[in-house]
Amino acid sequence: MSNANETTSEAQPSAANEATGRGKLIVFGEHAVVYGHRAVACSLPRGATAVVTPSSQPRRSVTHVDGSLEIDERAERALAAIFDTFELSPRHHSVDVELSIPVGCGLGSSAAMAVAVARSAARLTDLDEDDARGRIDEAVAASESVFHGKSSGIDHAAALGTGFFAFSNTHGWPEITSLDVPEHRWIVARVAPPAPTSQMVASVATLRQRHPQQVDPIFERFDALASAGAQALEAGRWSDVGALMDLNQGLLSAIGVSTPDLESACYAAREAGALGAKLTGAGGGGCIIALANDDSADDVMTALQELGQVYSYTLPPSNP
Ligand code: PMV
Repeated sequence: MSNANETTSEAQPSAANEATGRGKLIVFGEHAVVYGHRAVACSLPRGATAVVTPSSQPRRSVTHVDGSLEIDERAERALAAIFDTFELSPRHHSVDVELSIPVGCGLGSSAAMAVAVARSAARLTDLDEDDARGRIDEAVAASESVFHGKSSGIDHAAALGTGFFAFSNTHGWPEITSLDVPEHRWIVARVAPPAPTSQMVASVATLRQRHPQQVDPIFERFDALASAGAQALEAGRWSDVGALMDLNQGLLSAIGVSTPDLESACYAAREAGALGAKLTGAGGGGCIIALANDDSADDVMTALQELGQVYSYTLPPSNP
């Protein structure tokens, strides 16, 4: 039995060093955003909580709603990229992460985790606030490129953010505009096993390489939908938001990232009264989001529960 006053050589995870990063929903413009077009997303109220602790016997622990996650070679490389940025040694630090969103299905768990770990690691250095912020950005970008290859940075922005925002990365740096969106309930259903984001981004790149004259105009449409969607969201014109989500889903299907499971879930949500539904994130599996009004939200949730795990978020989060 351990004594409360006993000192050990291993530092224990400390609440003072605990840091968080948020998950996200992409409401408009995934994939096209990789090519500099505009997208709209919202940070979730939840995501990842991490504690980095100096240790001579480094531990890796990642727990999530469905169990625990194995840290494979790629995840260890992503952690090493974060530690490198802060000139800390991965071999002398334990990392404990708790995820409160589903993993690897378009809700931005890897960016949420990277932000939480980087923020916690920054607290072990004597960097001032500005330098720490810059290094956290660098560390998260390095970690995300290990997981996703070419990425737009939208997950990274959402993991650090607090609410709805429009995002583009046209000139090689992120342009982020906060959107003032009235509170509303958003329904998320995980309806199929996820596909790796890097694989889905690569499949769109191949399609564009083969058919640039057909694919580039589709990307322009994503951009226009994101702009119209941002306006409809800010005005709380929910039936317009839903219609634009349906259009966005049609474009995602056109570029080959939807699947029969995702399509069926979108149809089921609409038939149960949703104003609109679409896949969210990279596609190929994972989650859909549905928007419903107060009268139909419960029916939409019931219909989606037949197809997978269902979550409901009030957005923007009330914990900025
Ligand atoms: O499925 P996720 O959470 O990895 O979202 C990816 C979003 C993409 O637009 C497909 C890629 C990106 O980097 O923006």
